[in-house]
Amino acid sequence: MAKAQNPYYPIETEILEVIEETPTIKTFLLQPQEPIPFKAGQFMELTVPGLGEAPFTPSSSPLQTEKMEITVLRTGTVTDALHEMKAGQKLGLRGPFGKGYPVEKLYGKEVLVVGGGVGLAPLRSLIYTLLDDIGKFKRVSIKYGARTPQELCFRSEFEEWGSKKGVDMKVTIDLPAPGWTGTVGLVTVLLEKLNIDLKNSYAVSCGPEVMLKFVTLKLLEEGFEPEQIYLSMNRNMSCGVGKCGHCIVGRYFLCKDGPDMCYADIMDVPNLFG
Ligand SMILES: Cc1cc2nc3c(=O)[nH]c(=O)nc-3n(C[C@H](O)[C@H](O)[C@H](O)COP(=O)(O)OP(=O)(O)OC[C@H]3O[C@@H](n4cnc5c(N)ncnc54)[C@H](O)[C@@H]3O)c2cc1C
Ligand code: FES
Repeated sequence: MAKAQNPYYPIETEILEVIEETPTIKTFLLQPQEPIPFKAGQFMELTVPGLGEAPFTPSSSPLQTEKMEITVLRTGTVTDALHEMKAGQKLGLRGPFGKGYPVEKLYGKEVLVVGGGVGLAPLRSLIYTLLDDIGKFKRVSIKYGARTPQELCFRSEFEEWGSKKGVDMKVTIDLPAPGWTGTVGLVTVLLEKLNIDLKNSYAVSCGPEVMLKFVTLKLLEEGFEPEQIYLSMNRNMSCGVGKCGHCIVGRYFLCKDGPDMCYADIMDVPNLFG
């Protein structure tokens, strides 16, 4: 069995470049020993040798299989170690796992992409997928929020995304900051009075659980049905293949059935947002 087909076998991967996105977020351009095809929203288990594994969703385009980008917020043991790593060092990657975003379902629809903080990383892979075939979608509206201007991830790409025909890009930061002349407020302020064809829309959101909760409530208030909302449920995962049970939510294994879940399928789960 080729390494890429064995879900437990990490593929040796070299770090080609480390890009500092924000003071707490870095993107790692990776070169796996063999190409790893994936769909936007599927995730990888990344091994830092001698330390351990953690799940990350590639932030690069699925059309680029030779190299892969993974964008990482520094938060604990594995991510601390990763942030210290340099070009030329080796990692392991196994996967991809999960189903990925339901891109075909979005054809012909208005697509609302709502991200918070490092949550834009998995969504960037989706954004590239949508923008690459923009004619297939009625409109793509990207709404992104971060705490401060310095914490905006992929800021250098916003202008290009927003300038594409059929794309609307809006950004907000939580609190006023020196030099910031854009919108201020949580990402939900960008969901006020949405000028979209509601019946023909889907929303896809990724960010901290508390953000997902308030985004969902706002979308419902604006008239979205639970069936029209997809949430990236990035809960702790371990095996990635439905064996360990770390990721169970209701009757679903997020690693196999998600991590992007239709809200209608999980809305009755107690304490869904932690
Ligand atoms: C499917 C999936 C995709 C993900 N994609 C990305 C990504 O693209 N970029 C990225 O930066 N992170 C992503 N994450 C989160 C990432 O896996 C965790 O931040 C990482 O595992 C933390 O490992 P650590 O050893 O550095 O932290 P630990 O030392 O294990 O924990 C440090 C702190 O982080 C918290 N934490 C650990 N895991 C998570 C988690 N999954 N969500 C929220 N808090 C957590 C712990 O509760 C603790 O407070 C993803 C998670 C999942 C499940
Ligand atoms: S991560 Fe092991 S069952 Fe989902």
